[in-house]
Amino acid sequence: MRILGAGIVGLACAHELIERGHTVEVVDPNPGSGASYAAAGMLSPAGELWHGEADLFRLGSESASLWPAYAAALGVPTQETGTVLAGADAGDLQEIDRQLALLAEAGVRANELTRRELLTLEPGLGRISGGGFLPDDHSVDPRAVVAALLARVRTRPEPSTDPVDLTILATGAQLPEPFADLVRPVRGEVLRLRVTEVDLPRHTVRGFVRGEPVYVVPRANGEVVVGATSEEHDVAPVPTVEGVFRLLEAARELIPALDRAEFVEATARDRPGTPDNLPLIGLSGVDGVLLAAGHYRHGVLLAPITAQLIADAVEGVTTDAAVDPQRFLASQPQRSPA
Ligand code: GLY
Repeated sequence: MRILGAGIVGLACAHELIERGHTVEVVDPNPGSGASYAAAGMLSPAGELWHGEADLFRLGSESASLWPAYAAALGVPTQETGTVLAGADAGDLQEIDRQLALLAEAGVRANELTRRELLTLEPGLGRISGGGFLPDDHSVDPRAVVAALLARVRTRPEPSTDPVDLTILATGAQLPEPFADLVRPVRGEVLRLRVTEVDLPRHTVRGFVRGEPVYVVPRANGEVVVGATSEEHDVAPVPTVEGVFRLLEAARELIPALDRAEFVEATARDRPGTPDNLPLIGLSGVDGVLLAAGHYRHGVLLAPITAQLIADAVEGVTTDAAVDPQRFLASQPQRSPA
């Protein structure tokens, strides 16, 4: 079979299929250069929980529980730090309180913390009003994961002439016809900074600064990822002055020591958004074509569960109905191969 797309999702699917004894050809002219290259790598189903997204939370939690063993098998460390939620002003704190209430309803471990308690946990925080702590939301370096997968999965820039029985589309925000209308690009700008050990935040920090959402993800090697803008554009994804400025302004207010950081990189990539924010995983409705796409903000988190669901689908096991690509068929014209 053939997988088109060697981002974290395509590579994870290939790796799982190879482990299960299948022969897979993976095609990508620039492996790992799409959304996976920008991703911060938050394994954060609780931090990404929004109203009405129960299936996404369920899948995210399931995949988060696979990550420790998954990363260990690849020889990549996870950062088991938990996630601090911080609000700069009273309005931002309200936003966090809403999120904590939602998490309590979902039965998630999450603690509301005062400003003083937060400063004990994360001494580098600036002038914040208060927030909370998600002890089970961790992170991993997506570039390290992609490198580990590329060491195990051979890719080629173009398809061979060998006939294949199945094709799995894992091309992120750019699905070919007749699936192109199932995903839309949602631009995300992300910064990479480098700090000394003394300035390294102890936890992932997700915050709101006067309404601006921002996250700061530290790694043990001193890298700090700051993200992310979120805008729907149809022009090429490039980092903009406004995007970089907004992220830096919010991040340095949350964590003032970031003023001393080295500025390493600004990256922009398109997230593959779907109409219901859930990915497309399984049989596409076109004979011989499966989709592993549309992971929106959750490609890294959902990579292990996607790989399992795709390998199951290849082996004839029905996929999870919530991510069945054919759930949109009723509202779409009949699909036929391009
Ligand atoms: N997963 C976070 C983001 O897409 O910004």
